[in-house]
Amino acid sequence: MFNSEEIKKRVGAYAADYVQPGMTIGIGTGSTVYWLLQELGNRIQQGLQFRAVPTSRQTQTLATELGITIADINNIEELALTIDGADEIDGSLQLIKGGGGALLQEKIVAAASKQLIIIADETKMVSQLGQFPLPVEVIPFGWKQVSKKIQQLGCREVVLRQKNGETFISDHGHYILDCHFSAIPHASTVNQQLHDIPGVVETGLFINMADMAICGYADGRIITS
Ligand code: 5RP
Repeated sequence: MFNSEEIKKRVGAYAADYVQPGMTIGIGTGSTVYWLLQELGNRIQQGLQFRAVPTSRQTQTLATELGITIADINNIEELALTIDGADEIDGSLQLIKGGGGALLQEKIVAAASKQLIIIADETKMVSQLGQFPLPVEVIPFGWKQVSKKIQQLGCREVVLRQKNGETFISDHGHYILDCHFSAIPHASTVNQQLHDIPGVVETGLFINMADMAICGYADGRIITS
């Protein structure tokens, strides 16, 4: 049986096969993507050439260290594919993302991609979204007002994200509200309702964006869906 880190490593390595020479790709953020990056770094040593648009400062730093050529999204017509992690994946490939706080840039990069491939371990597969607190990126001004409006949508608790005892600030200077819904049966509607609240920059609901999920299991299986 494989432990959680081993599963992520295997899934990351598996996903690296989708990166073909000459492609310009998007690269997500998180502990599963970390292993994808390590594998891509190995393949660069073996001669693979590609360019990547990172979805966070964290990914940009690691990608650069590994010798990956960074591309500017503004100079690209379309990305061939993006490979990213997720916090929850339902049976229709609807996602909750943003556990690492990079949801805004992740969504922009995913939207610019022909294909979005999600890599995850089995714990991320759910029958219904919402057990994982939904990250919502907001501007700092008036965040408590935004929080009240989110509760009026049926969210039982809204928590301002903290890191190391301080308010977490996203790469783009925003706050993250972690929204405890318990269940999100109508994800598309909730996504729209959240976007209608002034002050909301982006939500962690990725609706009809993912094309494929590569899921690793403790028993060694890797299943694509
Ligand atoms: C970051 C994300 C990540 O993709 C998500 O949190 C999954 O990360 P991990 O692979 O570490 O579980 O959305 O904003």
